[in-house]
Amino acid sequence: MQIIHTLSELRERLKLFRHPSVVPTMGNLHAGHIALVEAAKPLGDVTLATVFVNRLQFGPKEDFDTYPRTLQDDCDKLEAVGCDIVFAPSEKELYPQPQTFLIQPPPELANILEGEFRPGFFTGVATVVMKLLSATQARTAVFGKKDYQQLMVIRQMVQQFAMPVEIVGIDTRRAEDGLAMSSRNGYLNAEERRQAVLLSQCLKTVADGIRSGRSDYAALEAQAMSELASAGWKPDYVVARRRVDLQAPQPGDALVVLAAAKLGNTRLIDNLEV
Ligand code: PAF
Repeated sequence: MQIIHTLSELRERLKLFRHPSVVPTMGNLHAGHIALVEAAKPLGDVTLATVFVNRLQFGPKEDFDTYPRTLQDDCDKLEAVGCDIVFAPSEKELYPQPQTFLIQPPPELANILEGEFRPGFFTGVATVVMKLLSATQARTAVFGKKDYQQLMVIRQMVQQFAMPVEIVGIDTRRAEDGLAMSSRNGYLNAEERRQAVLLSQCLKTVADGIRSGRSDYAALEAQAMSELASAGWKPDYVVARRRVDLQAPQPGDALVVLAAAKLGNTRLIDNLEV
């Protein structure tokens, strides 16, 4: 496996290949990321992972400075799973000047749910993903469904800009108790880790209610929010939305239940397709 830090070296190396299959990450890799790399491997003639903690997608009070940077450990895991190239640029390499050209996803998608609670987040994500897909000459790119809204933003961006990349979404990997795998789970202390299962349990309760024929979504959502709040969480949202555009459900729509909540200082997100 080759670890590349510069765009020029990456460009040179990619001359040998026609179909890069790419997994963009911010590092601190866990089994969920490794599953993405495994999925990416048969989809191209070279498998790349990118590791870059993207300042643009963090709010001023968020965890950019403390986000775990574990490149050596990440590379060991990527090598073990058979990744061919790791592209890990410095900030100066990827953003040599302030990034003034930005990809602004449409407000109806980017200003709801995560976008409401993390203003500018999807502009930061879309901009860096555009840049990483371009730098890696991706023909396939693999993302986790845990970041459901992010996946939708990226799919729409690729479609709107006619980018020659197929976007593949992979199901969320979960710990045995149901907690969705996330780099931010590492922020939880032992007691919080025990409590963290409640988020996926609440999603399941709402999803089960809908599956059993209930359509009083607001009541199901409110019940889940109050269950989280009574257990000491600070829920941002628990909502049932239609899968196609994350807007309010209409009869007959395929749905997804999405949630975000803070446990102590750690903000977790999760979702469940119904
Ligand atoms: O999901 C992530 O880890 C990041 O948002 C991504 C897609 C790598 C962009 O920085």
